[in-house]
Amino acid sequence: MAAASNIQRGLQDVVALESQICFIDGKEGRLIYRGYDIRELAAQSTFEEVASLLWYGRLPGTKALAELRRHLASLRALPPELLPILDSLPVEAHPMDVLRTAVSALAVYEPSEALAGPSSIGGAQRLTAALPSILGHFHRRRTGQPALAARPDLSHAAYLLYALLGRDPTPLDVRAVDVALILHADHELNASTFAARVAASTLSDLYSAVTSAIGTLKGPLHGGANERVMELLDAIRTPERVEAVVHDKLARHERIMGFGHRVYKVEDPRATILREWSRKVGEERHDLHYYELLRAVERVVLQEKGLYPNVDLYSGSVYTLLGIPHDLFTPIFAASRVAGWTAHVLEEYQDLRLIRPTAAYVGAVDQRYVPIAERPE
Ligand code: COA
Repeated sequence: MAAASNIQRGLQDVVALESQICFIDGKEGRLIYRGYDIRELAAQSTFEEVASLLWYGRLPGTKALAELRRHLASLRALPPELLPILDSLPVEAHPMDVLRTAVSALAVYEPSEALAGPSSIGGAQRLTAALPSILGHFHRRRTGQPALAARPDLSHAAYLLYALLGRDPTPLDVRAVDVALILHADHELNASTFAARVAASTLSDLYSAVTSAIGTLKGPLHGGANERVMELLDAIRTPERVEAVVHDKLARHERIMGFGHRVYKVEDPRATILREWSRKVGEERHDLHYYELLRAVERVVLQEKGLYPNVDLYSGSVYTLLGIPHDLFTPIFAASRVAGWTAHVLEEYQDLRLIRPTAAYVGAVDQRYVPIAERPE
């Protein structure tokens, strides 16, 4: 059978649904959450405000924000039944696998109204609050450190850092992570959000949708790219080697992680903001090594391939300076994107239509069944 001519490979440019959550202008390099430009949100808001904006469609007032902060903080403790499951996982496991397993297991212990339908906003908040606790619990165990109690006094960003590092972070470090969380919170119909919406469109529950999303985010062409960027920098080591290493990779038709984007044709606005934070955090620590390497990689990749940085290029350099191991970068992405995933799942429940595209069949037809004894080997 001949292939259909109207296939959009990778669903490129296919408009799959209407959404009021997030808008990307790929030509102008603009990103908007519910009408608000990401640059203003990154400069002035907090992750909790942005999560509220994504879930409820408007920025919260003082009282509503304080209430949301309190509520999220009260949801941080993990159910005791989950802990032996987490503790049975090998310490060598990738934290994204741990996160996916933990969210899937957590569903079993949650009240049914948290799981599906419009009332699952409770589940959205529970998952958002619990992800740092899951990561912290696993990371402390694998590094031989005792578990920490949840800290209801900290913001989401500060608690995430505290859960991973076991100490009170500085205000600059908290702000760096808060900005990173704001920038990662949503991004229209990216692959993991689409996966979450596909699951929700079957009327499956919120936790299943987020489990699908975590599995999708893990891939190096999506959220997994930030971890690979640091592998590249570690392979480059010194600024003099940038050109040779990048040329060599391109000559072997390898992708340079942290560059290129399906939607942005110019620089990803999130990369612009994270570049500044990479410099700021580096200057504060008198360590601009990664920042300078990344600037040099940027120059070569633009010159050679005409590709611009995406969100994943600079985030890892910030997290590394904060003392966070590379394999926790994508889980941190998840600890932010969970707000966007769940906002999209709630939107899907409000206006549900089973997502089920078709494939152009290009396989054989009219084959005749041959009994096994008569088949050639
Ligand atoms: N490094 C080298 N070449 C790249 C590239 C990269 N990071 N990104 C795209 N290209 C090249 C492809 O090789 C392809 O070239 P070709 O036509 O000569 O084969 C061309 O650009 C188009 O790439 P394609 O994969 O079809 O575009 P896409 O829209 O599917 O790609 C990404 C989007 C994000 C998957 C892609 O840019 C990529 O793999 N980037 C690296 C991973 C990454 O940083 N992911 C995080 C995204 S936020």
